[in-house]
Amino acid sequence: MMFITLEGPEGSGKTSHLPHLVEYLREQGHVVFPTREPGGTSISEQIRDVLHDMKNAEMHPRTETLLYQSARAQIVEQVIKPRLADKEIVISDRYYDSTIAYQGYGHQQNLDEIRALVKYATGGLTPDLTILLDLEVEVGLKRKTQNEVEWNRMDAYTVEFHRRVRAGYLEMVKQEPKRWVVVNSDQPWEAAQAELKRVVMERLKGEG
Ligand code: TMP
Repeated sequence: MMFITLEGPEGSGKTSHLPHLVEYLREQGHVVFPTREPGGTSISEQIRDVLHDMKNAEMHPRTETLLYQSARAQIVEQVIKPRLADKEIVISDRYYDSTIAYQGYGHQQNLDEIRALVKYATGGLTPDLTILLDLEVEVGLKRKTQNEVEWNRMDAYTVEFHRRVRAGYLEMVKQEPKRWVVVNSDQPWEAAQAELKRVVMERLKGEG
C-alpha cells in the first residue's frame, strides 16, 4: 500500500506521465489505482466543472478554496481510503498540496487557515511520496498553449500568480524534504519519465 501524488505548475506534464508510470508499475506486478484531482468521483467531477468553467470568472478565492475541499473530501472517502485499505498503490494527479500552492501561495491567503481546511477535507490523510514535476512558469504556460490542451479558469490567472504557485511548491519541498522528490520537467519527456519511474521504484523497495 502506498499513496503517491504528482504535483506541479501548469504544463508540467503530470497528466501525460501518469498513465505510463501506472502501466510500468503494473508490469512490475503492483496493483495500482490512478486518479486525479479535482475529480475522480461523479460528485467531484461535477465540482471540477464549476471550478474550471471560464464563465465563473467572478469566483472568490474562498469559494474556490472550499469547492476544491468538497471535491477532495468525496474522493478521499469514496476512492482513496478504500483502495489503500485494500493494499493498492493509489497515484493521484494532484492532491492537497495543490490547494496550499494555488489557493495558499497563489492567492496569498492565510497558510495556517488553508492547512486547517485541507486537514479537515482529507481527515488528515497525507501522501507517502509526493513528486514535484518542476519547470519554469513561462515554459509550462507556453507548453499548454502550444499543445492546445484544455485551457481552464485557473490557467487564466496572471503569470505572477503562477510564479507564486511554483515558489510555493519549492518552499513546501524545503519544509518536508522526506516526503517530496523534485523531478525536472524541463528535459526530454523520456528522461523525465525514466526519473519518475526510478524515484517510485526506489521508494517502493524501501517500503518492502
Ligand atoms: P490540471 O488538470 O491541469 O491539473 O488542472 C487542475 C487545475 O486546478 C490546476 O490549475 C490547479 C488547480 N487546482 C487548485 O488550484 N487547487 C487544488 O486543490 C487542485 C486539486 C487543483
